[in-house]
Amino acid sequence: MGFDIAPPRAEHLLLAKYIIIVLSLLFVSYISILFGATILSLGFSFRGKSENNETFTRFSRDLVDTLMGSWGVVTALVILPVLTIAISFGQVLYGTDMKVAQYFTIIFVLTMLAVVFAYAFKKSFASRDENFNMHLALGGIAVLLFHAAIFAFVSTMTFALYPENWKIITSALPLTYEWSMFARFAHFMTLSLAITGGAILFFFFNWDGGKENVDGAYGDYVQKFSGGLTLGMTVLQTLFMVWFLATLPQPAKSYDVYITGILAMGVLWLICYFAFSLLHDSKVSLGKIIFPLLMVFCLFVLVDEHFARENSLAYQNYKLTKMSDKFLAEVEQLRAERSGSATPSLAVGEEIFTAKCSICHQFDVRIVGPAYNDVMSKYENDLEALKTFILNPQPVNPNDYPGGMPNQGLKPYEAESAAMYLMEEYQKQQNAQ
Ligand code: HEC
Repeated sequence: MGFDIAPPRAEHLLLAKYIIIVLSLLFVSYISILFGATILSLGFSFRGKSENNETFTRFSRDLVDTLMGSWGVVTALVILPVLTIAISFGQVLYGTDMKVAQYFTIIFVLTMLAVVFAYAFKKSFASRDENFNMHLALGGIAVLLFHAAIFAFVSTMTFALYPENWKIITSALPLTYEWSMFARFAHFMTLSLAITGGAILFFFFNWDGGKENVDGAYGDYVQKFSGGLTLGMTVLQTLFMVWFLATLPQPAKSYDVYITGILAMGVLWLICYFAFSLLHDSKVSLGKIIFPLLMVFCLFVLVDEHFARENSLAYQNYKLTKMSDKFLAEVEQLRAERSGSATPSLAVGEEIFTAKCSICHQFDVRIVGPAYNDVMSKYENDLEALKTFILNPQPVNPNDYPGGMPNQGLKPYEAESAAMYLMEEYQKQQNAQ
């Protein structure tokens, strides 16, 4: 798969940035639930069989049946978002060294493979008893592929924060070898489980009146398990938020980033509070609030990332502009020299003095050539004469200086610049005395 990315227009850029946030929210939430449902279902299926426990087996089945959704949902929440995020990223990062198309191709392929295996795992429940190992293998492969897909996604998003590495890192995956990237991977994984816990509470008990027959001992177990999972994983999120803010690269930091981060933390505390109440008072209807709050938290995290990315990009653009300014100045200089319209200046004169004359000349002491302070008096008020000498040195004191001064091969405007600089400096030295 390859796609061409057209150069962006300003009004599209802003849109592209919002698209990235909104579609990332869909993608992150759904891939989280898919991953969480698969790994939990696999674990419960295994325990159900080995411990001969009906509750576990039933839960493992309900997880994939309730949370995975149809292929229509996969198209809407995985395929379209990944492709659109890829194109939007391409627009935002157009002309930079980040290999957007390559990275998103990898994310897309890994994600699709993970989803296909997750669905095969779901299907294998039908023949679970006859072919249990196959069932486990499909689930295991799906879980591994989800790890790989999420790692690819997280590392690409992290990489976008380190523009200075875009050119250097050439591996197929944008591994920045930064510790922060592994922390962000763990952040994503634990967030996935928190979201899955919230989704179980929401879709088992609240969505559309709740699933049928989820009550009694089974309902209690599901509620305790998912409430506990949400609470535990949400508590962990606070640590990761602090880590995220602390390890951002310097150019990515700003007040926006901190304020959004603090708001996100506030949402986390609310979730913890509700999850705790749910467990404490057995109030399963709180799931109605917890799941949407988890989405709000995700949104804050994505907006926070957006600010950080904008900061990094602004810094990168600033550096590029600086570099191109310098480059343009050099080109302009060359062009002027060619056309003979280059104008002499003190700055050029100083450069020439440092580069070409100072090996043989100082103002106050004689080295190879005479001290300027000893010879310049005759050129006072006669820039032309000085320029003529510098352009084409003739012997002045052959006794003192046999061989004279070698021709320095300067262009006329350079000789004039050097002359201007010498006169200026000479005047300064005179005035200082
Ligand atoms: C390789 C050594 C060397 C370099 C490089 C050199 N000079 Fe000289 N310069 C000399 C010597 C030797 C003399 C004395 C020549 C003489 O008296 O015949 C001299 C003399 C001069 C004088 C005095 C002329 C006079 O009328 O007495 C000026 C002015 C001067 N140099 C300017 C420059 C400038 C400007 C540069 C750089 C673009 C430069 N020199 C680079 C060796 C050098």
